Amino acid sequence: MSVEAKLEVNGQTWTLPALEGSEGEKAVNISDLRLSTGYITLDEGYGNTGSCISKITFIDGEKGILRYRGIPIEELAEKSTFVETAYLIIYGSLPTDSQLAAFSDLLTQYSMLHEDMKFHFEGFPASAHPMAILSAMINAASCFDDKIMHWQWKNLKDFEAAAAKLISQVRTIAAYAYRKSRGLPFIYPKRTYKYTRNFLHMMFSAPDEDFEVKPEVAKALDLIFLLHADHEQNCSTSTVRMVASSQANLFASCSAGVCALWGPLHGGANQAVLEMLEQIHQTGDDGSRFIAAAKDKNSGKKLMGFGHRVYKNYDPRAKIIKKACDEVLAHLNISDPLLDIAKHLEAAALKDPYFVERKLYPNVDFYSGIIMRAIGIPVEMFPVIFAIGRMPGWIANYKEIMEDPKSRISRPRQVYIGKTLNHYVSLEQRQ
Ligand code: ACO
Repeated sequence: MSVEAKLEVNGQTWTLPALEGSEGEKAVNISDLRLSTGYITLDEGYGNTGSCISKITFIDGEKGILRYRGIPIEELAEKSTFVETAYLIIYGSLPTDSQLAAFSDLLTQYSMLHEDMKFHFEGFPASAHPMAILSAMINAASCFDDKIMHWQWKNLKDFEAAAAKLISQVRTIAAYAYRKSRGLPFIYPKRTYKYTRNFLHMMFSAPDEDFEVKPEVAKALDLIFLLHADHEQNCSTSTVRMVASSQANLFASCSAGVCALWGPLHGGANQAVLEMLEQIHQTGDDGSRFIAAAKDKNSGKKLMGFGHRVYKNYDPRAKIIKKACDEVLAHLNISDPLLDIAKHLEAAALKDPYFVERKLYPNVDFYSGIIMRAIGIPVEMFPVIFAIGRMPGWIANYKEIMEDPKSRISRPRQVYIGKTLNHYVSLEQRQ
């Protein structure tokens, strides 16, 4: 059934095509609006704008639903692994045994960085934020592979290799960025270790002794990667799509995604949550003073890890992470006062009219930092962990653009409110 929408401006009516997605998401297609009417639509912050048609991830923010390729996040969290989920997200369906083995082999094959990349790491000061290093080094890595640097979408095989290389190397780069910041020698990846275990090895092993990884720890970090693997058209994914739409290469597009993710309102929120909890702890506040400040628009404070553009209900990932957080801390026999503060903050906020009326619930970042802290991951690496996890989602979105014969360069319009025609005045006359 074809659906239409009508737009009336100044007594004139235009008919616009409407469409409906497979989960009932309705949209009015305004692509040709300016051509036929002279009007553009204005939606600052894109809260009501669909920027693409996608088959990857479905979110129902009102109901708190998240599904990758149709599969609920809860099922994947319980039964899958990050690597298997990465395959699902990129290629559209769960892999068979042999597909998974081939994908894992590619990840192993590409885990080493080009040896010359070590010199690039050396150029960064020890104080450099690992997100800056990650973004720069993802771009740099493309320079060591001609096919990736002079990217042209030719065949799926080239893409598979590039995708596996990125997923594998982002982990090596991330671990190196951490070791660089601590002045520690780099630890090479080991072919026999699985994805997440290998990352922990590169982070924490000594040159002469492998770091002992408790299975619960590897599992918890793998879960964090999996829960971050995609989240439809958020700030960083939209950035990746924006850059990809110019036909930039996969590594360049995803390195831009890292920059977008870095900010405290997005992937940097997990770091900001921990810093907030530490500040609350150090000042002897039980959270009440911070909540009061977060409600005061003049304080410049927000309850970090709370609220979401799309979720107006409990973020389903936050529920899973909260449970995992309790389990990991119990396994490791850690009692963290920050976890108590977080739980207290959550309970207080969930019955505070300010947060209730605005439908502000904990998001994925609220508890993930406490798990990472328990594992021994330093706070500045939190957004890096997010970026490793998000790589399959960015890659899948990149692939979707490259495979779409109708894909166009992204180019929004604006409503100009600056000066009207104005003329150049010479320096002498400008007093
Ligand atoms: N603390 C206090 N007040 C908040 C918070 C918060 N964390 N989040 C939103 N609000 C308030 C806003 O001030 C606004 O109040 P108003 O209606 O009185 O003006 C109202 O709730 C609506 O919020 P918006 O600003 O419209 O929410 P928006 O969709 O623009 O922003 C965002 C979403 C950025 C996530 C916001 O909630 C926020 O800054 N949260 C804290 C940072 C954070 O946790 N980010 C992680 C997001 S999840 C992710 O990227 C993985």
